[in-house]
Amino acid sequence: MSDQLIIFDTTLRDGEQSPGASMTRDEKLRIARQLERLRVDVIEAGFAASSNGDFEAVKSIADHIKDSTVCSLARANDRDISRAAEALRGAPRSRIHTFIATSELHMEKKLRMTRDQVFEQAKQAVRFARNLVGDIEFSPEDGYRSDPDFLCRVLEAVIAEGATTINIPDTVGYAVPELYGEFIKNLRERVPNSDKAIWSVHCHNDLGMAVANSLAGVKIGGARQIECTINGLGERAGNCSLEEVVMAVRTRKDYFGLTLGIDASQIVPASRMVSQTTGFVVQPNKAVVGANAFAHASGIHQDGVLKARDTYEIMRAEDVGWSANKIVLGKLSGRNAFKQRLQELGIDLESESEVNAAFARFKDLADRKSDIFDEDIIALVSDESVTSEQEHYRLLALSQHSETGERPQASVVFTAGEVEHKASSDGNGPVDASLKAIESRLNSGAELLLYSVNAITSGSTESQGEVTVRLQHGGRVVNGVGADPDIVVASAKAYLSALNKLHSNLERVAAQG
Ligand code: KIV
Ligand code: ZN
Repeated sequence: MSDQLIIFDTTLRDGEQSPGASMTRDEKLRIARQLERLRVDVIEAGFAASSNGDFEAVKSIADHIKDSTVCSLARANDRDISRAAEALRGAPRSRIHTFIATSELHMEKKLRMTRDQVFEQAKQAVRFARNLVGDIEFSPEDGYRSDPDFLCRVLEAVIAEGATTINIPDTVGYAVPELYGEFIKNLRERVPNSDKAIWSVHCHNDLGMAVANSLAGVKIGGARQIECTINGLGERAGNCSLEEVVMAVRTRKDYFGLTLGIDASQIVPASRMVSQTTGFVVQPNKAVVGANAFAHASGIHQDGVLKARDTYEIMRAEDVGWSANKIVLGKLSGRNAFKQRLQELGIDLESESEVNAAFARFKDLADRKSDIFDEDIIALVSDESVTSEQEHYRLLALSQHSETGERPQASVVFTAGEVEHKASSDGNGPVDASLKAIESRLNSGAELLLYSVNAITSGSTESQGEVTVRLQHGGRVVNGVGADPDIVVASAKAYLSALNKLHSNLERVAAQG
């Protein structure tokens, strides 16, 4: 059996299914480029048939990504599969990932189909897909809770039809490591043609065991592909976290004995990019990518690390891409230096006008903040005003007044399409007053689900504040992110960015529909 472990990243598909994590086409392409730099083997770029927006995102990723295989999810029907194949046409290496539920519960209650119908549909879907693309992955959804006898029958049939990867999802995060590992091992032993496919694990984190289950699927079960997401992003409690699973296999090569193609130094930049794009903050004590993951606070630990690093460290921070906040640019930096830094960060703005807009924002920021870090640059290009993306609402100016014992007041000037609005309000605090001022004009009807502020770079009050706002309206949940040295301005930007996402009305078909 090969000792090569395939890393299949599904941040842009399963990760994006997380409420509020939906991304625009350009955001997805930016993340896909970072995943390519990270050297993931397969990028699941989306679910092409779910909406025009997702189709365009998969297509754009397929057209630009050269080194990783680009994959689209598709339900087990001809329309979804054709749509996936069409979106993937430009990719040098492409994969269709088709799925249908196989557990009694899902077949009976959700699909309202018999076992025989599911069996036939799975076979037919793989046969159809195989005529369009050579690389086909099949997933029996809720596979871990399916009857193993039925599962073996389906899997044997889809491999015979040409499925090249068999993925066993623990869709609801119910598995425990040993049992999941044994489950995969058992299937591989019982399916007569199992050696014709690569076996894959796909674990959700509802019981906090997605990484452990995935590793057991590899170690005990003999799987050679792990499906995972950056920062463990994903539905409910998320998916198996890429950074954790990769660093476990790398750090414990003595135990796993597996080879990975990943460039680990790109892990932290990827984590930051996903967090800044989606507004899903990384908890400080998160393994590998949390702000405290390599911080030694206790005197005993600090003393030990200074004497011999490996007393308390099993990985090196720089190996996963942590660098101390480095001043990269400042007020005197020119357009060329800025453009070069963008390139080094792997940020490809599409047109010269986008570079110019980003540079203008950089100059504006450098006037107010002496040291500009990589994180500031990433936040700056995430701002919709520098990309070509549709921006209906846009902040033009904000002023606020707060004083001890007085009720804060704010005035906001913003555009909605072609119309300029000026509005004022008071509020409990300056942020509250600013958002109320915006709402006094828009009456959006959106419900605020989350508001959070973080410093983009640590160690200084000079840092930009990054604000995430989560809004819900008409059954849709979106996150808006805004950054500025003034957190009231950042809040207004984040609020308008969330309203922009609601306004763009990217309707999505429920992925598990
Ligand atoms: O969790 C799941 O079952 C999935 C499948 C579509 C692979 O994401
Ligand atoms: Zn999933």
